[in-house]
Amino acid sequence: MRPSPVLRAVVKPTSQALPIALLALTIGVAVASGTASCGDASSSTGSPTGPVGPTSTSSTGGSGGGDGGGEPLGGDPRAVFLETVEPGLLSECGACHQLQGSSESYFLAAPDLYISMTSYPGIVVANVPDSIVLTRPADPGHGSGQAPDLSEGLRAKLKSWLELEASRIPKPDDIGFVVTPFKPKLNGAFNTVYLDELGQEFENVSITFNATELGAPPSMLLLENIEVHPISEMQLHLVHPLFTAYPSDTVANPDPSDSLSLIDEVFSLDGKIQLGTGTVIHTAWAKDSYLSIAFEDMFLVGDYFPPTDCVALSDFSQEVAPALEVCATNCHGGENPQAQGAMDLSKLGSDDALACRQVRARIKPGSADTSQIFVVTNPLDPSAHLFKFGGSIGNYNTFKETVSPWVNAEGQ
Ligand code: HEC
Repeated sequence: MRPSPVLRAVVKPTSQALPIALLALTIGVAVASGTASCGDASSSTGSPTGPVGPTSTSSTGGSGGGDGGGEPLGGDPRAVFLETVEPGLLSECGACHQLQGSSESYFLAAPDLYISMTSYPGIVVANVPDSIVLTRPADPGHGSGQAPDLSEGLRAKLKSWLELEASRIPKPDDIGFVVTPFKPKLNGAFNTVYLDELGQEFENVSITFNATELGAPPSMLLLENIEVHPISEMQLHLVHPLFTAYPSDTVANPDPSDSLSLIDEVFSLDGKIQLGTGTVIHTAWAKDSYLSIAFEDMFLVGDYFPPTDCVALSDFSQEVAPALEVCATNCHGGENPQAQGAMDLSKLGSDDALACRQVRARIKPGSADTSQIFVVTNPLDPSAHLFKFGGSIGNYNTFKETVSPWVNAEGQ
């Protein structure tokens, strides 16, 4: 394991027994409050170093929003929801969006409508105007044109409440790999957490589990059937996953027993997907908390590296694209569907960014000698590849010398 990152102590740890390294991954939520971080929340930005924090700016209560029209709100978001929003939602939207409603989008599911709303993907979001509960009803296609828009009064109340919720989304420090906190679906429901925001190479990788609160009032969170889902051919190495509960935006409670601390393993679809024993009981849970997953380290191993944007695109266009022309015209441009599937060069010259992503998936950035594009085309290599420069070592070497500087630049 790596030496521990610096501990930026702000949030009081709840357990003395926790090693510093893992705490450092998830604490620091309070540091961010008050300082606006303006960026696109949770989009995959390609930064491999950490998640992008939510965009909301205040932790002291909702601002009401620029064009929100609502009164500035403070207080308990659940209470605000129950008082100002729930009755209107039930009467305007309940017929279709309660359980057994006609829409099959049950964000008003009994018994606890607050949990149902806040754990429904896309409703509580950092940038309130993007909330689907505001955008979808305003779309003329909503319910095939049969469903209503929100009344103006309800829309204003809904906005104010969403602003308040957005201001409470915890903001973990961007040390290590931390998923933006979310409210899990409860009562044994199946949860899927995508890891895209942790780096471009983790696109479509997910962690799944069933979540159940224990105790009345809830004091523990039972996570079962925890599984890691890389994509095919990928081997994903995970070190020390950690579930953290956020009862509020200023308190972080890492799993007190740190039950996954010994995980230092490779996951793949044709190998292992269960995480640890598959079960974690988080013993410092509270009703309406957010949950997050952090990793001390995560990276891909093996030969497969999914397409990611090139960092040295101009080198690619100037030096590499002309050298790959021969590959594109003969096979990889569409002439041979199998070759195109393996490395699609049909856009070479017209969309180099796209072509470069394809080629980048077939190199080891920074290491020409082990890069697949040089291994399989080497006339002296026994691997089966239709094209090996017609057996000409000279032509092969010229190709390698031309392309290698870009391969190295990608590794910078
Ligand atoms: C007459 C039935 C009906 C009513 C009333 C209704 N909806 Fe819908 N709604 C639907 C249907 C059907 C869908 C699924 C198809 C679609 O997205 O248009 C849907 C979809 C949605 C979605 C998208 C869900 C998702 O998972 O993407 C949201 C959000 C939504 N409605 C909000 C509302 C709100 C807010 C109200 C109250 C103002 C409301 N709806 C009232 C029928 C209704």
